[in-house]
Parts: sequence; structure tokens; C-alpha cells
Amino acid sequence: MKTIVSFLLIAIVLVIIALGSGAYNMAATEKHWAVTEKIIEWVRESSIEARSNDLKVPAFLDDAEILLKGAEHYDAMCTICHLAPGLEPTELSKGLYPQAPVFHQREPIVDQTQKLEHARAYFWVIKNGLKMTAMPAWGLSHDDDSIWGMAAFVLKISQMTPEQYRDYIGSAKDQGHDHKDSDHGHSH
Ligand code: HEC
Repeated sequence: MKTIVSFLLIAIVLVIIALGSGAYNMAATEKHWAVTEKIIEWVRESSIEARSNDLKVPAFLDDAEILLKGAEHYDAMCTICHLAPGLEPTELSKGLYPQAPVFHQREPIVDQTQKLEHARAYFWVIKNGLKMTAMPAWGLSHDDDSIWGMAAFVLKISQMTPEQYRDYIGSAKDQGHDHKDSDHGHSH
């Protein structure tokens, strides 16, 4: 028992010395091992689920206006990393590690329970961001209603064609202009 403990302690000290002398490569171009990626994914999924499953999804989620507002936000703030139908990978998106998921290439979710689960998880991530990835916490600058709108749009965008996307953004912008007079100083 004693030898095992001393062996472990020596191993930990050696690992710390190696890390302190720069042995670990932090480069984004140096991918994790497959098993490390699996572990990170498992920790991330569990963390998001634990923190989002009590959230109450607002009834207005399918509201046309909420979706349009989400679309406008998405187009302005998310496409540089997450892309959009008809948009080629950007210089920024190509360099990310972990890569940002491309939502419009995901399978649409039809099951209502799964849809709500995804909406909650998306809301939580958009609001709080994700550590050690490039995903920012938009909750520092946006209220919950706007964030639900973005979560709803992320669900909506799967398998959208470039034409449908352009139409959506077009009408979102028209709506945005209508809002300007009544919506005091709200940007995006
Ligand atoms: C600077 C790049 C960047 C920007 C801008 C960005 N994201 Fe992300 N986002 C990421 C990355 C990278 C991940 C993946 C992190 C990971 O794999 O752990 C991510 C993850 C997510 C996820 C979780 C995905 C999942 O599979 O559950 C959601 C939802 C999301 N982003 C939504 C958005 C929305 C909405 C916006 C705009 C308001 C946005 N992101 C802007 C980089 C970005």
C-alpha cells in the first residue's frame, strides 16, 4: 500500500514538473486524443444537462416575431463561427478548436420532448458560454427573451436552404426597421 502511494506521488510530481516545463502543447492545431475528446464531451454534456433541465421553456418559443428576432441576432453575431446556409467556412471558423457546430447541417428534431431539451441546452450555452472554447457568454449583453429567440432559431435553422435563410433574414431586417421607432435604442 505504502509503495503504491509513494509511486503515485512521485508520478504526480513528475507530471507537474513536465507540465511546468512546457511539455503539454496548447496549440489549437494539436488535436486531443480521441479518448480525451470523448471525456470532454461527456463532461460538457453532463454539465449542460444538469444546469439546464430545470429551465422553463417559454410558450412564445414558436412565435414568429421571437424567431425573426433570433434570426437577426444569429445573422449578426453567430455566423462567423457557426456559419449559415449558403455561407462558406470563414477564416475564423476554420481555425477554431474545438470547432463550432454547423447547426444548419444537423438533422431537424421532430420529437417535442427532445425539442424542449435542446431548446433548454441551447439557451443555457448561449447565455453562459463554454469555458476553454471560443463560445462567448451572450447573457452579459442580451436579455433572456432574446436568448430564447436565438435558441429557437438554432433549432429552426436545421436543413434550411440558402434561399429560405436569406428570406428569413430579409424579413427579420424589415421587422427590425419597423421596430426602430418604438424600440428605444435597442441595438441588433
Ligand atoms: C467566436 C466563435 C463563436 C461565436 C461568435 C459563437 N459561437 Fe457558439 N460555439 C462556438 C464553439 C467553438 C462551440 C463549441 C464548443 C464545444 O465544442 O465545446 C459553440 C457552441 C455553441 C452551442 C452549443 C452547441 C451544442 O451542440 O449544443 C450553441 C447552442 C451555440 N454555440 C450557439 C451560438 C449562438 C446562438 C451564437 C451567436 C449569438 C454563437 N454560438 C456564437 C463558437 C462560437
